[in-house]
Amino acid sequence: MIPYKPIQNADTDPHDRQGFAHFMLKEIYEQPEVVRRCLATYLKPDWNSDRDAALPATPFNLAFPEALFAVAEIQIVACGTSRHAGLVAQYWLEQLAGIPTRVRSASEFVSAPFPLTTNTLTIAVTQSGETADTLAAIEVAKKRRSQSDVSLQSWSLGITNQPDSSLTKAVDYTLPTLAGAEVGVAATKTFMAQLVVFCCLALAFAVRRRVLSPQQLVDTIAALRLLPDQIETTLKQQHEPIQTVAQTFTDVKDCIVLGRGMNRAIALEGALKLKETTYIHAEGYAGGEFMHGPIALLDAKVLVIAIAPAGNVYDQMLANAQKAKTNGAPLIGITNVTESSDRAVFDHQITVPAIDELLSPFLTVTPLQLLAYAIAVQRGLDVDRPRNITKTLIH
Ligand code: AGP
Repeated sequence: MIPYKPIQNADTDPHDRQGFAHFMLKEIYEQPEVVRRCLATYLKPDWNSDRDAALPATPFNLAFPEALFAVAEIQIVACGTSRHAGLVAQYWLEQLAGIPTRVRSASEFVSAPFPLTTNTLTIAVTQSGETADTLAAIEVAKKRRSQSDVSLQSWSLGITNQPDSSLTKAVDYTLPTLAGAEVGVAATKTFMAQLVVFCCLALAFAVRRRVLSPQQLVDTIAALRLLPDQIETTLKQQHEPIQTVAQTFTDVKDCIVLGRGMNRAIALEGALKLKETTYIHAEGYAGGEFMHGPIALLDAKVLVIAIAPAGNVYDQMLANAQKAKTNGAPLIGITNVTESSDRAVFDHQITVPAIDELLSPFLTVTPLQLLAYAIAVQRGLDVDRPRNITKTLIH
């Protein structure tokens, strides 16, 4: 049994591995504490659900002008893992708060920006605050607005782990992600922190726009407060089984990660973690889209990972998994459904704690991080410093 090592204080020297074999593993294990810290910052401690839920009182510490909460559109620019956080956020902002939201790779935005729209919030997400493409995108967005003849009310917001970075100088507002320094090239705890910030942001918009019932708000805040313990439980219960699963797939060459809804972005993120740490050719797909061509890739040599949390997408994800099995692919399922006989479809099941589907990305991503880490270690690779990439792409 791998003993669980809680990390209470991520602020101690970030360059000390604290007994962990690699920074990536240490940083994965810091996630419960990072979520705790972000929630302590972005949730008001004195907000009382019995007293305040039905009032316009917001539980969130987000000091934005009132007009900003009335935005007509949100545009998100980012790269790599930060873009994946933006894709999860797109679901939250659209489905929870009802705000049309677009996400574009910062590098694509520079040559093909979104059409100029009024009343728009542009959000740049970057853990380092120095990624050249993301900085260029925010500059392009600001310049186009300043050169427009039409009065286009707009705001810019940076979500970053570096409060003194070039990004923070370029935007109107900053929300720090408070993850502590991340040394491993593969982003893990900073992604988790980006999710917390985005989730609080989407909920704050939903509260101000009165599109969330008091009960939904109370339930979601209560569920958010459970997250640190649930991530801890996932680490305690799943690290060892994931290491065993990793041994089975150490030599796999191709992997498909499938997810639907919010977990499509987690499928992309899981595939990116596998690519950059293990050098396995891994692709993330939306489960539905996968059926329209890519399914032809499957055979007994292609590992399929299905992210199948309880909720709206469960049955469809199971249908995806069944189809993969019919095509001979070995199958790992990441799910929180434990009582169903359907799950026998998975060759290997990684179980995460029960959670509302809306918040499931917080729990489905950790097994994928651990799997990528374990396979990379078993392949004898330099997990913290993968080939060909650096922590921050500054050109
Ligand atoms: C993440 O694991 C990667 N190393 C990479 O995709 C990274 O997320 C990307 O380069 C963006 O970095 P940033 O968040 O510092 O802008």
